Amino acid sequence: MDYQLTVEDRKWTEGIFEKLNVKLKAECSRLEDMIPYIPRDGHYHDLDSPDGIYWWTNGFWPGILWQMYHTTKDEIYRKAAERIEKRLDKALEGWEGLHHDMGFMWLHSAVANYRLTGNKDSRRRGLHAANLLAGRYNPAGKFIRAWNADCTGWIIIDCMMNLPLLYWASGEMNDPRFSFIAQNHSDTAMNILVRPDGSCNHIAVLSPDTGECLETPGGQGYAAGSSWSRGQSWAVYGFALGFSHTGRQEYLDTAKKAAHYVIANFTLNNWLPLVDFRAPPKPKKYDSTAAMITACGLLEIASCVSEYEKPLYRESAVKLLRTCENAFADWDITRDGIIGKGTGSYSGGAADTEVPIIYSDYFFVEAITRLLGKDFLIW
Ligand code: GLY
Ligand code: GLY
Repeated sequence: MDYQLTVEDRKWTEGIFEKLNVKLKAECSRLEDMIPYIPRDGHYHDLDSPDGIYWWTNGFWPGILWQMYHTTKDEIYRKAAERIEKRLDKALEGWEGLHHDMGFMWLHSAVANYRLTGNKDSRRRGLHAANLLAGRYNPAGKFIRAWNADCTGWIIIDCMMNLPLLYWASGEMNDPRFSFIAQNHSDTAMNILVRPDGSCNHIAVLSPDTGECLETPGGQGYAAGSSWSRGQSWAVYGFALGFSHTGRQEYLDTAKKAAHYVIANFTLNNWLPLVDFRAPPKPKKYDSTAAMITACGLLEIASCVSEYEKPLYRESAVKLLRTCENAFADWDITRDGIIGKGTGSYSGGAADTEVPIIYSDYFFVEAITRLLGKDFLIW
């Protein structure tokens, strides 16, 4: 879609895309078929994450590569993305280490490949992943279970972003079951995770037998009742995508409610993203991932609303992108990672606090290509 950028914003966006192409090509040459997460000492190391091949972020680098391939048609990006997709087969086959993050892992790899090239093996991988995700559905409680071990009744707001894998599978198989599961889960998340003021819980512990809400722990934010900014961003983008896939107005209304709350909180800190909007003023901790995801979510909302509503969402998105790029970007092509100051969780250690994280870069690339009208549908 045409976001009707100002001449100045358009020039900035085009300049950033050129810089992305130079830096990402340099990373691509260095990485070969590595799967990156967080660079250490300026360099990515293969599968250097808490859960190896099963880690939820393993699709974001191929997602970057497919976005760049779609825009530039440079084969270096396509070949690298295909190699990583094959490596992820180990996780599909191994299965036991997978959580609910099948959307993050296979929409950006196999499904992206299938959408762009028609590759039948990729389609099969995507459908296999969608079936595994659907297999986590609890019909009594109407929710998709998030994590494994004893987290039988846990749902988390992040899961909204995995649901597009189910919408895709319904369309591909001409079978509404997957979409019903996605919508039932969304309704539960809307009622239990999103609060009336537009803020949300990261986690809710439900009874696996009845779906009754037993507890809402703090999760990756500061504490129970606080407002983890990345969780907020998953709500903004996830419900906007829910509307795009189903046309259900209550999902768009929920996305807008979450967006208004998030925009109000970002402006309080000059558009620089804190890890949690309801945490003590010190220490001040940043999380660029929340800003990048929110920016994409706001652009999605902008594409769904009427003409005179669009500026709020578009201009807030551009403000977040420009402010974070100016404050946090590293354009040195000899170092890995672009957008710095990403944070895994409020109480995490130094290794994932205020560092470049692969999904900050993914959502930055998606937002920039969207603004240029050159993105293609990952979700
Ligand atoms: N938030 C993803 C995980 O910690 O499993
Ligand atoms: N989906 C896990 C996280 O946002 O950390």
